[in-house]
Amino acid sequence: MLNNNPFSILAETIPPSAMQYFIIAMVLLIAVGTIIQMIHHKNLTYFFANAKKAKLSATKELGIAEKTGIIAKTTVVDIGTTSELGFGKRRLAHVLGMYGTILFWVSSAVLVFCYTGVDKSNSETWSMLWHVGAILTCIGGYWFWFFLRVDVSAEAHPWYRIIKADLFVLALLACSTFGLAWSYLQFNDQVGLSYLFLILFVASNLILFGGVYWSKFAHMFYKPGAAIQKNLAEADGSRDNLPPPADAPEQFGLGIKREEPKHY
Ligand code: HEM
Repeated sequence: MLNNNPFSILAETIPPSAMQYFIIAMVLLIAVGTIIQMIHHKNLTYFFANAKKAKLSATKELGIAEKTGIIAKTTVVDIGTTSELGFGKRRLAHVLGMYGTILFWVSSAVLVFCYTGVDKSNSETWSMLWHVGAILTCIGGYWFWFFLRVDVSAEAHPWYRIIKADLFVLALLACSTFGLAWSYLQFNDQVGLSYLFLILFVASNLILFGGVYWSKFAHMFYKPGAAIQKNLAEADGSRDNLPPPADAPEQFGLGIKREEPKHY
């Protein structure tokens, strides 16, 4: 099953061009949802106003080479490993889900545009990557959902309590779970059930990409922007108008050791 391209078998009933248009429509939905969210929440306006204000208190002018170095390092270290989550389970779960999703999306596009249709060859590697991406997303996402979510791990709410803020993670998990189930059932010739899961797969994609405006989807664009701005502000001395770190070591006494910090 892992070497099988489910889109290729689907192309016997649905033209590959329909699948290609679907992917293009999903990309457009991301762009529209994010732009409307930025206009409505005014976060981009705040971001640039803040960056402009901070620049006034800069103590050092950064050159192009220095800026490029900071941006490259932030991309590889901070963004590429979600360093803001510190060391531990939360970061590991996020990295698994993040790379799983990127792999799943990229391989979906490659499979549909390059390896689906009568005159197209097969790629076991890309089919494998599609399945591995979905599996990694499930591991990271379900781990987060059942055990690490703040509502569950710190606020003692049951894992099945669902609120609007869960739209993103649940739609993401639905996409990879239904995608895997569709591929498995299609491979095992369970025609009726495979179409049921295909419909669920399509519906969850429509919810994930159509819900960008209401969900946390766009954090994957905002977070990298904020990390780059923070590191540039640190390097030019403006520090986003925050006070410099204290030079004395942090002394909290022994009380801090009594309980694992879980109060957000
Ligand atoms: C394809 C890219 C990404 C995916 C699929 C993804 C997925 C997720 C998911 C499912 C959550 C949980 C959302 C919730 O609270 O319900 C999350 C939270 C978070 N993400 Fe991402 N993310 C991506 C990119 C990024 C990037 C680039 C950063 C930072 C540079 C980032 C930082 C965070 C942080 C700080 C949280 C809060 C984590 C927590 O509460 O434990 N994410 N992300």
